[in-house]
Amino acid sequence: MIGRLNHVAIVVPDLAAAAAKYRDLLGADVRPPRDLPEHGVTVVFVELDNSKVELMTPFGDNSPVAKFLTEHPNGGMHHICFEVPDLAHAARKLVEGGARVLGDGTPKTGAHGLPVLFIHPKDFDGTLIELEEVKPELQPG
Ligand code: CO
Repeated sequence: MIGRLNHVAIVVPDLAAAAAKYRDLLGADVRPPRDLPEHGVTVVFVELDNSKVELMTPFGDNSPVAKFLTEHPNGGMHHICFEVPDLAHAARKLVEGGARVLGDGTPKTGAHGLPVLFIHPKDFDGTLIELEEVKPELQPG
């Protein structure tokens, strides 16, 4: 059911410092920061050949990652995102199998403008998993 690893999201306390490390120490293709007020985060995408790293830091007062940063002041891995061709099918299969989909269980528009949902980390070995619907015709290669 799942396809490519779309991204790994890492919450960081200092976005500029984190972006500089990926650019200068790892030699990565680091994109400029983007504020996503509707998601309560500012992000920097690190473009890799086969996937992306999404560096995130809180934006605004009600950021969903503010609590994460309080609990992990040095930052840390927040979630991993897999691509699926049909999110409704994926959600049905997960719920049938006893996994909890976060929120009301319906897909929301994610940081890339595509439908996403999140699976409860307690049902996936302590890892928050995001599924993003990417239609096969939109997938590169
Ligand atoms: Co994500």
